Amino acid sequence: MNISNCLNRAELDTLDKKPIYLQIASLIAVKIQKQILPPGTKLPPERELAGLFAVSRTTAINAYRKLEQQGLVWTKVGSGTYVAQAPDVESPPGVPWPQLFTAYPQNRLASILRDMVSTPAPGTISLAAGMPDPALYPLETFTGLFNRNIGRTAPADFGHIPIEGYSPLRRAVAAMLNEKGIPASPENILILSGSQQGLYLVSKVLLEPGDYVVMETPTFIGAIQVFQDAGARVLSLPCPEKLSLGLLEDFLIRHRPKLLYIIPTYQNPTGRVLPEQDRRDLIELAKRHRLVIVEDDPYSDLFYGQQPPRALKALDSYEGVVYLGTFSKILFPGLRIGYLAGPPVLINRLALEKQFIDLHSNNMAQWLLAMFLNEGYLAPHLAKVRGEYKKRRDRMAKALQRWCANDIEFAVPEGGFYFWCKSKQAVTSRQLLQEAANNRISFVPGDAFHTVPTLDKEFRLCFAAHDEAVLLDSVQRLAKTLAQITKKNKENGSPPYSVRPII
Ligand SMILES: Cc1ncc(COP(=O)(O)O)c(C=O)c1O
Repeated sequence: MNISNCLNRAELDTLDKKPIYLQIASLIAVKIQKQILPPGTKLPPERELAGLFAVSRTTAINAYRKLEQQGLVWTKVGSGTYVAQAPDVESPPGVPWPQLFTAYPQNRLASILRDMVSTPAPGTISLAAGMPDPALYPLETFTGLFNRNIGRTAPADFGHIPIEGYSPLRRAVAAMLNEKGIPASPENILILSGSQQGLYLVSKVLLEPGDYVVMETPTFIGAIQVFQDAGARVLSLPCPEKLSLGLLEDFLIRHRPKLLYIIPTYQNPTGRVLPEQDRRDLIELAKRHRLVIVEDDPYSDLFYGQQPPRALKALDSYEGVVYLGTFSKILFPGLRIGYLAGPPVLINRLALEKQFIDLHSNNMAQWLLAMFLNEGYLAPHLAKVRGEYKKRRDRMAKALQRWCANDIEFAVPEGGFYFWCKSKQAVTSRQLLQEAANNRISFVPGDAFHTVPTLDKEFRLCFAAHDEAVLLDSVQRLAKTLAQITKKNKENGSPPYSVRPII
C-alpha cells in the first residue's frame, strides 16, 4: 500500500478552525481507527508528511506527537513512526485514557526496563536482564525458615510496621554494613522495596525540575530514567578507565549540582571498579563542595578474585554519602528488598515520602530476610554464588575470546554480572541486536545506558542468569550473527548499515 496516497491535504476541512497539526492528527487517527492504516504500518517520515500536507516539519512532528499521546502510533528511534495496536472497534466508546494521562516520558528508554525483565520469546537466550540465575535462589532455605517460624511469630508482625522497615531487619542490615566498614545504626537505615525505589525517593525529596545531577556515562538505565523524570539536567562524567575529578570539579563550580550518582564497584554496565585512591580523592572533593554522593552498590559482594576496595560510604567523613544496597542480585530480585543508609534527618524525610507509595515494604519478605541474615545464611550463600558466577564468567570470557575476538572487544570483569563489549564492525549495537534476534539471542544495546542518544557500538551481556552450556550456546549465536554481518558487508562492498547519527 502506498501510504502517501491515502494521506493528502485535500481531505482536510478548510473551514475547520482547529490548529492544522490537530487536523492532520485527526485525519490519520480516523484512518487508523477504520483500519485503513492497519497496526504495524510504517507512516511517512516527518519531512514527507510535511510535504504531503504542505506544512512545516514542526507541524508534522506535532501531529505525530499528538497521535503518540493518544497511543495510536509509536516511534522507533532511527527507524520511523508506526501505527500501534488497533483500538478495539467492537467495544463501545469509553474513557479516552491516553488523553487523560499526565505528561510522561515517551522516549526510547521509557519501557526498556520493563522489556528487559519480561519473559523472552521461546527459544531466545536473553543476556539482557541483569539478574541472578533462578537455579541459585536460596529458596529451600527460605522455605525452611518460613515453616519453622511462621507458628512462632507474633501476628502483629504481619500488620502495619514502621515505614522505615521491620526493626529486626534494620538491625541486621546495620550490622551487615558495620562488618563492611560502614558505620551504621538502625536509625541510619531505610528498608526499601528494591533499591530502585531508593533512587525514586531520593529524586523525589532532593530534586526539582532544572536541578543538575552528575552521572557517569554509561550508567544504570533505572537511575537515568528516574533523574530525568524528575526534570533534572544531567551532567555526564565519561566513565572510561579513570574518573575525571577535574571535570567533576568543573561541574561543581559551574553548575552546583544537587548530587552525584555513582556505581563505584563493578559498575553497571562497564564492570569497572573505582580504585581506592580515587575513592579517597572523590570524597575529599565532594566534602569540600558539600556535594551529596548517591552511591549505588548492588554488586560489591559479587567479586571473583580480590575483594574490591571499601565503599565510598565507609570513607564518608561529612555525612554526605547516601548508600543504596539491594538483595536483588545476591539473593533474588522478586524479594524486592533493598535499603538506603544515610543520616537520620534524610531517612526521616524519605520515610515521609515512602508512605505515599507503599506505607512500608512487604513484611513477609522483611521478616524472612531478617531471619536469613540473623541465622548466618548469607555468607555461605555468597561463597556459593561467587564460585558459580566466577566459573560462568571464565567460561564466557573464553568463549568470547575464541569465537568473537575478531569482531568485538571486551574486558573481563573482576566482579558483578556483565561483559561490556564493543563491536569492531561497521554496525551499531541496535542494528546488531536486530540481526541477533534472527539467531534468537538478545542483549542490551549500549545507547540505553547513555543520557543522550549516541551512535554506539557497545553492548552489555549478562553472564549470571544462565548456566555454562547456555552461555556457550549464546556466544556461538552471537558469533554467527557477527559472521553474517561480515558476510553482508563483504557482499555489498560497503557496510549494509549506514552509520549515521540519529537526530
Ligand atoms: C546499579 C543498579 N542499581 C539498582 C538496581 C535496582 O535493583 P533493585 O532490584 O533492588 O530495585 C539495579 C538493577 O539492575 C542496578 O544494576
